Amino acid sequence: MVSRIFFCLALLIIASPALTDTIAVIGTGDVARALGPEFAAQGHTIVYGSRSPDSAKARDLAAETGQDASVTTQVDSVVGADIVVLAVPGMLVGEITKGLGDLSGKIIIDPTNPLQRDGLRLTHGVDTSNTEIIQAIAPDAKVVKAFNTLNWKTMIEPASSGGPVSIPLAGDSRSAKKTVAELVSGMGLEPIDVGGVENARWVEGMLILWINNRYSTRDSFEYHLRKTE
Ligand SMILES: NC(=O)c1ccc[n+]([C@@H]2O[C@H](COP(=O)([O-])OP(=O)(O)OC[C@H]3O[C@@H](n4cnc5c(N)ncnc54)[C@H](OP(=O)(O)O)[C@@H]3O)[C@@H](O)[C@H]2O)c1
Repeated sequence: MVSRIFFCLALLIIASPALTDTIAVIGTGDVARALGPEFAAQGHTIVYGSRSPDSAKARDLAAETGQDASVTTQVDSVVGADIVVLAVPGMLVGEITKGLGDLSGKIIIDPTNPLQRDGLRLTHGVDTSNTEIIQAIAPDAKVVKAFNTLNWKTMIEPASSGGPVSIPLAGDSRSAKKTVAELVSGMGLEPIDVGGVENARWVEGMLILWINNRYSTRDSFEYHLRKTE
């Protein structure tokens, strides 16, 4: 009898599909195009949220993504989603988050940078961080800063950087950071937990430091956090 129960349990485990999530990717720009297909390749279902879901650009992106990806409006895309990726202009993230409706219980991945032009240089355009702004608008969601520190090309081709590329994760929910860390690892990148949401501002600052050197007469540089053994 006991061996029969074990046999049935083993069959159940073998027959169970891998855990997959529905991921709403808001936006159809460079970051959405990088992350959507990467997450689909890990078996997740992608629903893009676009202002123009009927455009050829949006429909082609969904068709190229695989795993039966689809595209709809921003507000409809989040309805059945476990995870929401805000791949949208950084200075509009508050307004766009408010427009998405109830995000309670969902994981929100925030790859944005609040870049504001000040003459020739870019500055950090908010008093706190975009991640804290999103968390305040959606207090019952679990917001995780991720993917904002590197170019979209490196996201899809980490080997091009010649070494491990790390992704700092900032947010208050350990379980949400664990889920996002699995997505990061699945892309061949290296997740590093940098603490709570109050650290997101410093993670956003990394990109601003980088971009201002890159587009100035000073030396440009690449940077990768790297775990110590
Ligand atoms: N590009 C990079 O390499 C990179 C890397 C790391 C982080 N980031 C950050 O990630 C975010 C997205 O970057 P991106 O390069 O993907 O930007 P992007 O190419 O400009 O795409 C942003 C998308 O957001 C949607 N959008 C644009 N204006 C909007 C508005 N007024 N209201 C609502 N939705 C709007 C658009 O999608 P629809 O037209 O379909 O609505 C657009 O395709 C930014 O905050 C950026 O700082 C970028």
